[in-house]
Amino acid sequence: MERICVDIPGSEYDVLIARDLTEKMATFLSDKTKNRNVLIVTDEYFSSGYATALEKALVNLEFEVHQFVMKGGKINKSFNEALKIYGVLEANDFARDSVLVALGGGVIGDLAGFVASTWYRGMHLLQVPTTLMAMVDSSIGGKVAINFRDTINAVGNYYHPVANFMDLDLVDTLPERDYISGLAEVIKCAYIADADLIQYLKGNRERILNREMDALGFCIKRAIEIKVDHIRHDVKEGGIRLMLNYGHTLGHAIEMATHTEKGETFRHGEGVSLGISAVLAMSESHLFLSDETVSDCRNLLEDFNLPVTFSASELGHDRNELVDLCMKLMLKDKKRKDNQLRFILMDEPGKASVYTGVPEALVRAAFETVIR
Ligand SMILES: NC(=O)c1ccc[n+]([C@@H]2O[C@H](COP(=O)([O-])OP(=O)(O)OC[C@H]3O[C@@H](n4cnc5c(N)ncnc54)[C@H](O)[C@@H]3O)[C@@H](O)[C@H]2O)c1
Repeated sequence: MERICVDIPGSEYDVLIARDLTEKMATFLSDKTKNRNVLIVTDEYFSSGYATALEKALVNLEFEVHQFVMKGGKINKSFNEALKIYGVLEANDFARDSVLVALGGGVIGDLAGFVASTWYRGMHLLQVPTTLMAMVDSSIGGKVAINFRDTINAVGNYYHPVANFMDLDLVDTLPERDYISGLAEVIKCAYIADADLIQYLKGNRERILNREMDALGFCIKRAIEIKVDHIRHDVKEGGIRLMLNYGHTLGHAIEMATHTEKGETFRHGEGVSLGISAVLAMSESHLFLSDETVSDCRNLLEDFNLPVTFSASELGHDRNELVDLCMKLMLKDKKRKDNQLRFILMDEPGKASVYTGVPEALVRAAFETVIR
């Protein structure tokens, strides 16, 4: 079992990475609180399996357990679902020392985390992330939120759980595309902060792709340690935490620009991979990172079956129009967030810095490298 202590000002808790964790969770909660009320918020995928196993373990320790089962998908990270959860909490007299378990991917973690952060100004929250992305990224760092109409994460908070249990049994059932998508965040962590992790990823590619427990556990642990290092002194994202957005600004613009009525074209991690590929082009032209290093970094993404370019026409877009749209969305996002063209660029593999004053033409050229 891997254990990481997250020590952020005002909050300290453990992240546990292992298999077969339901009974350990129940024992932990039993020691944590005298209140016996637990609500497990989860999506349909887990309701009859893992959630029921966790419920049994809790009932054995005399907890009274409720389940709130919802449909997955970003559309349900909404006020409507939050109101329904508040309804269950009120109907069953949940107090500040009752427990809300967020058992799911980033959607459930963000939504249930937001509800927990606001119920009586904060009740006990246990994060049990079930996607690799949620394990290495969204369940760490305390950001919880719901979407409002078309605005993603419009209403949110910073709120930390009492613990975070990562059960690797859950990763076994993750669809391949979601698993690979989560690996993009691990590679991102390596590129911004850990040259040794880059070597580890290169040397253990097969084992990681085969989801072998020790290799995967190591990657998850390192990615979390790197994230915690970046948020420990910057919980609210004014400085060093920004580094974690490496690849995200351009990737997010590509994700939004290619979104269709049917839903997303690229998973979040695929967008991050494309974003990293694009900012590598910026590091090459702005920081004179060598062509060889850039190819090497792109190759690692491809070795993990992540996209580094895509064809606009294959998605039914005109290339120039799509690049224009990506630029527009990226500039709007920058204006809303910090009103300047500030980017995280890689100085060398394993080290990144914030750069301001990057010419717009370079950003456009970066999109053009990725959008064929
Ligand atoms: N809080 C943060 O810091 C942060 C960071 C990044 C992303 N996010 C948020 O995360 C959300 C996306 O999260 P996600 O990518 O985990 O997607 P998700 O929560 O929508 O899960 C994706 C799908 O996978 C299924 N699933 C989950 N775990 C599974 C498992 N173990 N086996 C089989 N199927 C499983 C779910 O049923 C769901 O349909 C977005 O809303 C995004 O805004 C938050």
